[in-house]
Amino acid sequence: MRIATGVMAAGMVLALAGTAAAEPAKQPSAAQLKEARQLATEFFSDLKGELQKAIAEGGPTHAVEVCARVAPGIAGELSTHSGWAVGRTALKVRNPRNSPSVRERAVLMAFKQRVEAGEPMKTMESAAVIEEGGRRYLHYMKAIPTKGVCLTCHGETLSPALKKAIDAEYPADAATGFELGELRGAFTFVKPLE
Ligand code: HEC
Repeated sequence: MRIATGVMAAGMVLALAGTAAAEPAKQPSAAQLKEARQLATEFFSDLKGELQKAIAEGGPTHAVEVCARVAPGIAGELSTHSGWAVGRTALKVRNPRNSPSVRERAVLMAFKQRVEAGEPMKTMESAAVIEEGGRRYLHYMKAIPTKGVCLTCHGETLSPALKKAIDAEYPADAATGFELGELRGAFTFVKPLE
C-alpha cells in the first residue's frame, strides 16, 4: 500500500511535468523527489530570511549585495553538502549567468502557462531523468513565486538609488516589472545518478 502510494505520487508529478515529453523520461524515485523538494524548501526559506535580514539591516541597496553574493553562496553551500548542482533561473534574468538552458526554458514556459491557468505555485515542480553524454541525471525544477519582498528589486518601479545599484552591477538586467503572485523563475537541481 505504501509503495503503491509512492509510485502514484511520482507518476502524478511526471504527468504534471508536461514539458518533459520530448525527453526519454524515466521516473525519479520517490526518495529522490523527496530530497529535491526538501532542498528547494531549504533554499527558498534561507534566501527569503537573508533578504529580509539584509533589507532590515541596510536597506534594499545593501540587499542587492545580498542577492548578488548570498544567493549564489547559499546555492554553493547547498550543492556542496547535498551533491546536487543548485541554481536559479528565469525567463527574464538579471544576471545572464542564470539564463535557462533550452530544456529549462521549456519547463519555465510550461510553469508560466500553468500559473496563468490558475495552478498554485506552492507545489509546482518538474522532475525528469535525462541522459547526457552517456550519464543519467535527475533534473528537478521548482517554481518560484513573486512575493511582496521581491517587488522592491523586481517590481514595476524601483527606487532611484536601488536602480542605480542594480544597473551598475547588472547592465543587462531584464528582471523587473514583475507583479505579486507572478512566476518569478525556478530553482534548479541537477544530480548525477549512479
Ligand atoms: C534587494 C534586491 C533584491 C530582492 C529584494 C530580491 N532580489 Fe532576486 N535578484 C536580485 C539580484 C541582484 C539578482 C542577481 C543575482 C545574481 O547575480 O545571481 C537577483 C536574481 C534573482 C533570480 C535569478 C534569476 C536572475 O534574474 O538572474 C531569481 C529567481 C530571483 N532573483 C528571485 C527573487 C525572489 C523570488 C525574490 C523575493 C523572495 C527576490 N528575488 C528578491 C535582487 C533582489
